[in-house]
Amino acid sequence: MQKRLSEIQNQVKDDLAKAKSLEEVETIKTRYLGRKGGIITEIIKAIPGLLPEERSSTGKSANILKKEIGKSVTLKLESLSLSAKLPDPGVEIFDVSQPGEHKSYGHKHPLTQTIDEIKEIFKKLCFDIEYGPEVEHEYYNFDALNIPADHPSREDFDTFYLGNKRLLRSQTSTVQIRVMEKTKPPIRMIAPGKVFRPDTVDARHASMFHQIEGLMVDEGVSFSDLKYVLTLFAQSYFGQDIKMRFRPSFFPFTEPSAEIDISCSLCKGKGCSVCSQSGWVEVLGAGMVDPNVFGTVGYDSEKYTGFAFGIGVERLTMLKYGIDNIRLFFENDLRFLSQF
Ligand code: DAH
Repeated sequence: MQKRLSEIQNQVKDDLAKAKSLEEVETIKTRYLGRKGGIITEIIKAIPGLLPEERSSTGKSANILKKEIGKSVTLKLESLSLSAKLPDPGVEIFDVSQPGEHKSYGHKHPLTQTIDEIKEIFKKLCFDIEYGPEVEHEYYNFDALNIPADHPSREDFDTFYLGNKRLLRSQTSTVQIRVMEKTKPPIRMIAPGKVFRPDTVDARHASMFHQIEGLMVDEGVSFSDLKYVLTLFAQSYFGQDIKMRFRPSFFPFTEPSAEIDISCSLCKGKGCSVCSQSGWVEVLGAGMVDPNVFGTVGYDSEKYTGFAFGIGVERLTMLKYGIDNIRLFFENDLRFLSQF
């Protein structure tokens, strides 16, 4: 009988190990411990009919086994009902009480922000936004802008030539010609974009930078209109107390021409590396459109006058935020970019 009991013990272990549901465990319990026909129950019932010397040991072992089976069944039931409560690992749980996850989305480059800001200022003055190609024909970059064949800016070391009279534009003034070719006055436009020059890279120079060209053409446009628009622009961008300085200058496509400086906000006019110790930073070239340029695009220079200007976007941004090295804009170092 002892042998039979230990066989039953092993069988119960096997049965419980295989059981996957609460129902299966209940069936196993009934099979062994059920009041009617349970295997252990029947053995205990049969004890009085055993030989006297077998009775007590069988009774003892059978009762121990009965308790053991009861315990194992309870443990199995507990573990099955616990795992029934655990979430299925395949199902995503959305806990509304959790704090939100912070995602960093990035933002526009500081130069793009400056360009956007300038576009908004000029849109308020009813200027259109125009764009031109970065790979240009020599005609638009030089000839049509009244820049003679022997002008130093046409030298190889000042312009990136691509061959076949093509080049990387060295100024956005090209867009003046493209716009005048396709439209009649009145014109009010600005043209932002990249320009390229084989300059030696230093704290103030890069071989690619950004300009915003401006052009206004109509009957009776004068130098005082130019001064008014540029002053309004500088005050909107830098604030009312910005100091501006107009210096007589020369550009082949404007007559008269001026270079316009802004007081250096980095050193407050005392002199630093960004302003070459002068206290002023040149940010704009401007002037009245040369009649020769009007002649090239077929405008009547007796009837129309106009002004043009070119803004250096990097310079303007450096002045506004106190940045002392142009290279920072192009190194893509997030420690710098994330400050804007
Ligand atoms: N294109 C000139 C440059 O790159 C800047 C400039 C000067 C633009 C005078 C103008 C202008 O429209 O009138 O240096």
